[in-house]
Amino acid sequence: MDKYEKVSELARRRGFLFPAFEIYGGVGGFYDYGPLGTLLKRNIENKWRDLFVRREGMVEIEATVIMPSTVFEASGHVAHFTDAMTTCTRCGRAYRTDTVLSEVGVSFPEGASMEMLDALVKEHNVRCPECGGELTESQPFNLMFRVYIGPLGKGIVGYGRPEAAQGQFVDFKRVYAAERERLPLGIAQIGRAMRNEIAPRKGPIRLREFTIIDYEVFVDPEDMSYPRIKKVEDVKLRILPAEEQLAGTNRVYEVTVREALEKGFIKNEVHAYFLALSTIFMQQLGIPLDKQRFREQLPEERAHYSMQTFDQEVWTERWGWVEVSGHAYRTDYDLSRHMMYSGEDLRVFKPFGEKREIEEVIAIPNEGLIKRDFGDKASFVLTMLKRAVPEIVERELKQKGFYELPGPEPLVLKPEHVSFERRKVMASGRHFIPHVVEPSFGVDRMFYVVMEYAYTEKGDRVVLKLPRDLAPIQVAVFPLVTRDGLPEKAKEVYELLLDEGFYVDYDESGSIGRRYARADEIGVPICVTVDYQTLEDETVTLRDRDTWKQVRTEIPPLPEKLRKYFGYRMEFPELGIPVE
Ligand code: GLY
Repeated sequence: MDKYEKVSELARRRGFLFPAFEIYGGVGGFYDYGPLGTLLKRNIENKWRDLFVRREGMVEIEATVIMPSTVFEASGHVAHFTDAMTTCTRCGRAYRTDTVLSEVGVSFPEGASMEMLDALVKEHNVRCPECGGELTESQPFNLMFRVYIGPLGKGIVGYGRPEAAQGQFVDFKRVYAAERERLPLGIAQIGRAMRNEIAPRKGPIRLREFTIIDYEVFVDPEDMSYPRIKKVEDVKLRILPAEEQLAGTNRVYEVTVREALEKGFIKNEVHAYFLALSTIFMQQLGIPLDKQRFREQLPEERAHYSMQTFDQEVWTERWGWVEVSGHAYRTDYDLSRHMMYSGEDLRVFKPFGEKREIEEVIAIPNEGLIKRDFGDKASFVLTMLKRAVPEIVERELKQKGFYELPGPEPLVLKPEHVSFERRKVMASGRHFIPHVVEPSFGVDRMFYVVMEYAYTEKGDRVVLKLPRDLAPIQVAVFPLVTRDGLPEKAKEVYELLLDEGFYVDYDESGSIGRRYARADEIGVPICVTVDYQTLEDETVTLRDRDTWKQVRTEIPPLPEKLRKYFGYRMEFPELGIPVE
């Protein structure tokens, strides 16, 4: 059994995580969390919330999971959120074309086009992995779950969100105003998202319904500094730059945040700051530095909205490097498209303090050419251009040679469709669309890697060495034997600890050794045993999960001592627990 199998067996048996609808045979890509898993997952989320939101002075919102299609037409997901899908002509099974290729060992560059994948399928005569039948040419398959809002035929089309981020973009104006118009402004969401994966086969690593943490950090593009960077300048990051992948050397650089910025591995301080925080966070989840890295995505791999992306990857025994978070520099892409599509002005205003002369850019559409090239869509194109920020259209046309408009299908402007003029005007401030740096975390994947790294064996026993502040059950209380008033006394201690706010388990069945083993297996950091001496002097035995050492302590100060212990502040040095 490899670690994945061992962890999965434990997760199923002890109620952490298991396939959903199991009694009906399950459906790939859907998992449910049991009682312990729900607690552990919530602890991971709360730890993230504490580090990235509360301690940063940022905010969290909760937007809807179902959104009308307009939102995803604007964001580009309707047109672009697709995977190449091939189907078996004999058995009808569908596959991701890249997956069937890699499963037979055919390599291809990251982000390879559909045409290239199909050519490789032909060249290597790749067949259906199940029945050996011939495979069709690939089709783009949109991964969003389509829903009807309201009665079929009368309602409107919507989608289950494939990322939470669009909630922050559509709510930006309101949240920015409510937060007294400050930048940088980080707006987080922790919630469900869904992707109709073609054929997910990696257990909890590739899910069709999952929990995502999307954190949109809105900044002024003319000031991408982040004052708190000083706090993390010496934090070590492990970076695999794009050039090293292109050169095939795959060298990982271990550098401090300061060096990463100086060497130009990371484009700006905001991006760098959150890579550092994510490294620290992963270490706090129990993943050592040498088992994590940031892989810079190659330009072809990047999502349609990103200018630079790093995948934070963690080493796993079965799947090698697995992405647990993605860090995209989304620029002004999303807000500028929502601004055009909705007609709402989503720019922010920064006053100069006094009037100044500035240069204003004006876009002048070439109406004749637009009518010729876009036919009955010409008036839509002209409306979008009127609502667009001319500087952004000009920049994109210059950088990429085209500018794609929001909509259900891509309409692409070329440089000849629009010209630009400049004029000097007096202005009292700058109007601009904030840029966005987005750290985005897969909670279910983090959950899995936390379990894998915590899973250890000691002889024939499993000890789940979860970081103590993540443990779903913090304390287990046992009477040594089930007679002579010990259960009654143990229940008193149990009630006391419940009242004091701990997650506590009371267990009196089986031998004390078996009870310790059961507690170790689910990662309970401290077991409290009530014995005969307790009845005489109000002391109990504490036993540590990792060292198996024991110490006697009095009951009245116990809650306070435990609070310190779970807050990683010095308590119980006798147990041999390293103090952080
Ligand atoms: N919002 C991040 C993602 O879609 O992966």
